[in-house]
Amino acid sequence: MCGITGYIGENKTTDILIDGLKRLEYRGYDSCGIAAVDAKGSLYLRRVSGRVDALDKLVAEDPAKGARAGVGHTRWATHGAPSEDNAHPHTDCTGKLVVVHNGIIENYLDLKEKLLAAGHKFKSETDTEVIAHVIEEKLKALNVQAAAVRSEMTEPVFFEAFRRAVNDLKGSFALSAVWAPCPGMVLTARMHSPLVIGLGKGENFIASDVSAFLKHTKRVVFLNDGEMAAVRKDGVDYYDFKGKKTAKDSVTIQWDSTMAEKGGYKHFMLKEIHEQAEAVENTLRGRLLPLGGDVLKAEMGLTSDDIKGFASVQFIACGTAHHAGLVGRALFENFGIPSYADVASEFTDRAKLMRKGTLVAAISQSGETADTLFAVREAKAAGAKVIAITNTVGSTLTREADYVLYTHCGPEIGVASTKAFLGQLAAIYLLAGHFAAARGILKASDARRYAEDLLKIPRLIEETLAQEKDIAKVAQHFASSEHFLFISRHVNYPIALEGALKIKEISYVHAEGYAAGEMKHGPIAIIYKGMPLLAVAPSGRTLELMAGNVEEAKARGADVVAIVDEDSRKRVKAGRYITLPKTDELFTPMLSVIPLQIFAYYVALAKKCDIDKPRNLAKSVTVR
Ligand code: M6R
Repeated sequence: MCGITGYIGENKTTDILIDGLKRLEYRGYDSCGIAAVDAKGSLYLRRVSGRVDALDKLVAEDPAKGARAGVGHTRWATHGAPSEDNAHPHTDCTGKLVVVHNGIIENYLDLKEKLLAAGHKFKSETDTEVIAHVIEEKLKALNVQAAAVRSEMTEPVFFEAFRRAVNDLKGSFALSAVWAPCPGMVLTARMHSPLVIGLGKGENFIASDVSAFLKHTKRVVFLNDGEMAAVRKDGVDYYDFKGKKTAKDSVTIQWDSTMAEKGGYKHFMLKEIHEQAEAVENTLRGRLLPLGGDVLKAEMGLTSDDIKGFASVQFIACGTAHHAGLVGRALFENFGIPSYADVASEFTDRAKLMRKGTLVAAISQSGETADTLFAVREAKAAGAKVIAITNTVGSTLTREADYVLYTHCGPEIGVASTKAFLGQLAAIYLLAGHFAAARGILKASDARRYAEDLLKIPRLIEETLAQEKDIAKVAQHFASSEHFLFISRHVNYPIALEGALKIKEISYVHAEGYAAGEMKHGPIAIIYKGMPLLAVAPSGRTLELMAGNVEEAKARGADVVAIVDEDSRKRVKAGRYITLPKTDELFTPMLSVIPLQIFAYYVALAKKCDIDKPRNLAKSVTVR
């Protein structure tokens, strides 16, 4: 949550900061701001309540002159309402020191009390402002009068004050600071919040994630918890919080910046829905054959012997990623492999029960979700091995897991997760196939069929996407409904949950996802005449029961949309149908979710909602 940017170099600092913020806006978008200094140490600061476009306009009306270093921030409010006063950057009492911050300073009230007693004046309700004043105190303790400090002394003094301040903070932070008397250096530090440095030629960048500066450089250094960096235009030095220099390797990111642009689509969400065949294909490529062989060994050190050694698989994740975990549970159980799926935020006690033979599969698009990371740490402490299923190279999760299975979906910008979910499902089907084949549960011919079926999924996704217009018509018909019900069973039960989540998050209307078998235990009572009910009912073992559930719902007035295939369509009697291409029932979640995503998109479009940046949400939830 919250996105931070930083820049130092000879190019137009404010443009670069604002462009970076636009790319990070998915992380939070209730207010934003930038600060920059010129070579003489004059500080330029602009903040707005609202979106980065408004900030851009404000800066264009009265541009900064000669700024060569600065920081920027787009906010998802935690402490203090969204407002200009609470927007970052925050300043100290002198107005010469600015900070931007992503995370939560847990001891800010203690610090604030002491600072108030020392005479500091606060202008916001945020925890972040405290940091600026703590640095100011440290500067004072170093006997620095900003106006009088000799220029050759500013860097070591600023560095030391910043370092000492960082050591006083408890909680999570990705933090960057600029001090006007020291225009040649931006300082940055990380603890439990993502932070990455971009290395350019004669210029360097700081950001919460690489998409902010990918158009300038792909060479990056990821900071770890407890690390800080002094970023100058000609180089970057890395330190631990004790001030000891550390060596860091750079990596080259394969994504390019155009992958994170809309490419002719009205919204990122729609573009990303259309990228799902590719996401699945890229995630499966080179990792499937031979199923049960050692194909994952070179990439992540996971051998077929390791796979045979795990007694059970425990999925942990949040939101949409949890729904992928629930599909995983059904799939592994289908193969007779004990499997569990929990939301990461409710895992604390169960984490303590993890044992050596459990493989904990932590699923996270961003690899930065605080609850998932916390759960991983607890599970590891209890002795479990962890595999990360993530889309984000270099994310915290990848550094804490024992094995990393990347989903190769490319950047997902829309807050509502779509292609990342498909990538997660592809990775889980891949893993389940290897588990079942390595243990002899899938015999050679069955394993071959499983792999062949899986490899056909990208083509079937394209066929499903081709029905967009018809699905849009169904969505328009129901767009003014205030309640939606989604039901299904077995592997598609999590898809019912996901369909409801998509509607809720981008249309702000009430939607429920239920295991169809639960309907008679209570939820059927909420059905009223004309209530939209979307039932995922493919051919296979659940069809008869689903057909019955649809009848029961219709008898109570539900207006049913059945997501079927050509065969199950004959059995399920609904008012409207969306017909999926045929695949084995086990693989249907990778198709059935697509009409539900498209449906949610067009309901939100009809309601004129802000689809890529839904209210109250942020793409990465980096606080617990
Ligand atoms: O980055 P992660 O996959 O860990 O994120 C988990 C959830 O926050 C995320 O899936 C969220 O539920 C999406 N907004 C749903 O569309």
